[in-house]
Amino acid sequence: KQARMLLDKDFVISEIDKRIYGSFIEHLGRAVYGGIYEPGHSEADEQGFRRDVMELVKELQVPIVRYPGGNFVSGYNWEDGVGPKEDRPKRLELAWKMIETNEVGTNEFADWAKKVNTEVMMAVNLGTRGIDAARNLVEYCNHPGGTYWSDLRKSHGYQEPHKIKTWCLGNEMDGPWQIGHMNAEDYGKKALEAAKVMKWVDDSIELVSCGSSSTGMKTFPEWEATSLDITYEAVDYVSLHQYYGNPNNDTESYLAKSLDMDHFIKTVISTCDYIKAKKRSKKTLMLSFDEWNVWYHSHSADKQLKPWQVAPPQLEDVYNFEDALLVGCMLITMLKHSDRVKMACMAQLVNVIAPIMTSNGGGAWKQTIFYPYLHTSVYGRGKALQPVISSDKYDSKEFTDVPYLESVSVYDEESEAVTIFAVNRSLTDELHLDCDVRSFAGYQLVEHIVLENDDLKAVNTEQCEQVKPHSNGNALLQDGKIEATLAKASWNVIRLA
Ligand code: AHR
Repeated sequence: KQARMLLDKDFVISEIDKRIYGSFIEHLGRAVYGGIYEPGHSEADEQGFRRDVMELVKELQVPIVRYPGGNFVSGYNWEDGVGPKEDRPKRLELAWKMIETNEVGTNEFADWAKKVNTEVMMAVNLGTRGIDAARNLVEYCNHPGGTYWSDLRKSHGYQEPHKIKTWCLGNEMDGPWQIGHMNAEDYGKKALEAAKVMKWVDDSIELVSCGSSSTGMKTFPEWEATSLDITYEAVDYVSLHQYYGNPNNDTESYLAKSLDMDHFIKTVISTCDYIKAKKRSKKTLMLSFDEWNVWYHSHSADKQLKPWQVAPPQLEDVYNFEDALLVGCMLITMLKHSDRVKMACMAQLVNVIAPIMTSNGGGAWKQTIFYPYLHTSVYGRGKALQPVISSDKYDSKEFTDVPYLESVSVYDEESEAVTIFAVNRSLTDELHLDCDVRSFAGYQLVEHIVLENDDLKAVNTEQCEQVKPHSNGNALLQDGKIEATLAKASWNVIRLA
């Protein structure tokens, strides 16, 4: 298989907002309890946070983490999670049928976020709660002091406000499974009023309006058109959520699912711009892809779980090698839209459909999908460049004209570094890449990182890391041209400086 590519430092898509490499921690399964927090564990710090997990999160350089849900947030009383731990109530958690102990809440999570050098993206409950709880939470978190809620925060030991900038107006309110599900018009009205008062409390915050829960929703994209018609001027972003799986073991179609993600993003952009035109607005709405990942391996195990346990092993997908390839394609797709996708959250971060796994009382390890996330987050800062690609293509059961090569590049002018991210989707053949980089005169090849494995279903466990990258790719840079052989079914990072 063959592909040609032209890269030029002037073909700029956009400066990348680093928050495109965000993630998500929900009060669900073992994400919080047994994930980031396990008092009594040999790695626990003075607050009960696992140091081994914090190290892996720091390695990923996650810039923002969405919290506390997810479906969880639509039944959550944030007041349950602040103040003395011994006074906090245990609650039946209806979204995931478990017991929430509230040992970790807003303040502890803000502490954890600081420890791992990340920002909090806070979601408010627009299911069972509404305007009042939302504005009180903004006051509790962000107001300096001298009022009821800000002084309550101080009395809980937090003199300084948390200064949380990004807030989600509810979660997946288009989904019948959501506590407090409503139609687009009712959501728009509720979200608008919440947005108004939240910004009155702190006008420096940014708000995310709920978009569709997936492209598969019957209400997509009418939900966006109707709700944004109401919220457009009051919000800064609209959310997108999407998970993929390979339940029929059709890997050729599976690896092409990022084309569906591309179509989803384009449709949401068109819908936002239609509302902009309709309103004669000057404002261009940005996108927050605040839940995305592979999610399907754990579906049947989850059906067997007994309800009303504390921190049961829910949504514990064990990712294989082909999942890492699709995750790479999804990251490339979002980077290609970085002029509009400003935030994105890999859902989730620890144990629950996550790149990081732990065992209770035991170790922490990297799932296969950790690596494309790591490489893009670490090397993908700067300007996204639009490559001009001509690649051999294939047809699968679900898609036609799928390019074997999926690729985007990032140029960091300051450190004079260029990074090419590339997936070869062919399951059988190497791909010969011929890339014109004459615009980067004087650059040298630094390394060619490759994630490859003969077994598409290979996984990493606590005992054994079968899927990990090496730096022995064969890319060569000569006379302004890179020549590389991309192994069959591989994720590649070609770095120049
Ligand atoms: O991330 C898991 C769940 O997926 C979230 O709680 C929900 O928002 C989505 O349906």
